[in-house]
Amino acid sequence: MCGIIGYTGTENAVPIIVDGLKRLEYRGYDSAGVAVMNEDGFEVVKQKGCLSALEAMISIKPIAGFMGIGHTRWATHGEPSDVNSHPHLGSQNKIAVVHNGIIENYRQIKERLEQKGIRFVSQTDSEVIAQLAEYYHDGDIVDTMIRTANALEGSYALGIMCLDEPDKLVAIKKDNPLIVGVSEHGNFIASDVPAVLAHTNRVCYLNDREIAVLTKNSVEFFNMDGEPIYKEPETVTWSIDSAEKGGYEHFMLKEIMEQPRVLKETIQSVLGDGDNRRIIDSLDVSRFDRIVITACGSAYNAGMVAKYVFERLCRVTVEVELASEFRYKDPIVGQSTLVILVSQSGETADTIAAMREAKRKGAATVSVVNVIGSTIARETDYTLYTMAGPEIAVATTKAFSAQLVLLYLLAVSFAKKLGKISKETEDRLLSDIASLPGKAAGLLKRIDPVAKYAAGCVGCKSIFFIGRNIDYAIALEGSLKLKEISYIHSEAYAGGELKHGTISLIEDNTLVVAISCCERLYEKIYSNVEQVISRGARVLFIGNCIKAEPGEQLETIELPEINELFAPSLSVICLQLFSYYVAANKGLDIDKPRNLAKSVTVE
Ligand code: AGP
Ligand code: GLU
Repeated sequence: MCGIIGYTGTENAVPIIVDGLKRLEYRGYDSAGVAVMNEDGFEVVKQKGCLSALEAMISIKPIAGFMGIGHTRWATHGEPSDVNSHPHLGSQNKIAVVHNGIIENYRQIKERLEQKGIRFVSQTDSEVIAQLAEYYHDGDIVDTMIRTANALEGSYALGIMCLDEPDKLVAIKKDNPLIVGVSEHGNFIASDVPAVLAHTNRVCYLNDREIAVLTKNSVEFFNMDGEPIYKEPETVTWSIDSAEKGGYEHFMLKEIMEQPRVLKETIQSVLGDGDNRRIIDSLDVSRFDRIVITACGSAYNAGMVAKYVFERLCRVTVEVELASEFRYKDPIVGQSTLVILVSQSGETADTIAAMREAKRKGAATVSVVNVIGSTIARETDYTLYTMAGPEIAVATTKAFSAQLVLLYLLAVSFAKKLGKISKETEDRLLSDIASLPGKAAGLLKRIDPVAKYAAGCVGCKSIFFIGRNIDYAIALEGSLKLKEISYIHSEAYAGGELKHGTISLIEDNTLVVAISCCERLYEKIYSNVEQVISRGARVLFIGNCIKAEPGEQLETIELPEINELFAPSLSVICLQLFSYYVAANKGLDIDKPRNLAKSVTVE
């Protein structure tokens, strides 16, 4: 949600910033802007709309400078408009600011400053930061940052340039992500790593309320008392290729295709000798009498799948809670509860709040996170990394798949430690999990039937996904994927629930996607399929135990055989492809669906 990039160095900042903003596009935005500082002061180009419009504007009105800040805005306060776009300047044109987040007390600050005669030009909360910093500035930018940050309530990641200190690019964050990149030709601030990967893989992660001061050849950090703090840059293993489309039309398709490798590397991270292995081994599971998994969106759906696996293998109660609900429900968790946070970005505001609430109540926290050094990764007691690499498409695919396998492996380890499964069963389960990358690769070699079927579904007004048990859990993800990128209304139901209400919505030509990978429940789900077919529905039946023959109203897609507990990893690939091809046939902006942001860093 929103992207920030800043650069100071020996090269023209403008193309570097525009390229960085493109790499942050996936986060979602409605306006974009760049400000550079040069001998004439600040030059700003900003406007509502997409980055290509900004680029066109820059080509008409070229700007240049060795230091600059750029922003893609996802409006929270004030409509998307040219004037509300960032960067914002103070009224004396001495300070330029880009901001990600929400300033909750902006009205009070604005009123105070207006009483002192300061004139505001935008409706944003962010402008108060520029005005306040300018008001406080007395020659020392670190001191100005401390005073400004102390006055702000809410969340912020800030990039700031000050005309009186022309060699410095300054940054601070609270509750929103910001990294510092260190390169041969200059230094960067950015919302996340892919924005700087073309220049460097050496990054420092800012903690809340730490200040970074960058010059073209130095980076310093300070705490809120103005004391220097030391941070060593870490080397990120993500490559620039992993953040590019590599010949695919969309990042989403590329990321779907990457899943065999991602599964393999994530499995290897636990079965091999890495940090994930060490952390899982160190967990004393006998302390816990309950597991709570909390997350948002697809990560929540991964938790729903994991619930079935944990409960079946470990015989422990698992609750799955939406993080946005968990944080406000005064949750019943304590020292004997293990709270598992699942998040691709590690920056989802609701999941961060849920994590902090769980910790406040004394629960042990484990995170399953993709983005290295993210807030959730840093703050949980135990951090397990998924090996998905950068995920650019807003709709998650490979990170979701990586979450699933990591959670399966965690469940198997817990079950073994709790004495619920024998060594033989453990070996069998691990070998089933280890077979997933190969089976996923096989599945991805025969995507034509899914693509063809999806092409015939673009006119659907509503699509239902049904399954039973763990197939129901993965149906939730199938439905979410479809909604996100195709804008078709869809719902997921447990097959047995249909007759309790939803079946009234079935009419001629309604599309129902049914999933069947639990052989013991095949007859049950098949009877649901027959019930909807007899009411006029068309059914796409996906599974590895289907006995029905295709017919006028029934199409089948066969999946490889696998233990039912791990089958979601294969059925989800089919569901992702189905959504992808429906959206592609509708000609939609698949990687950046309307109204959505990749990581939801505001509440
Ligand atoms: C998934 O396709 C969505 N973009 C969304 O539901 C996402 O899973 C959710 O916002 C959680 O994000 P996180 O994994 O980064 O915490
Ligand atoms: N709250 C700010 C605004 O509406 C920043 C939003 C963002 O993070 O993009 O301008």
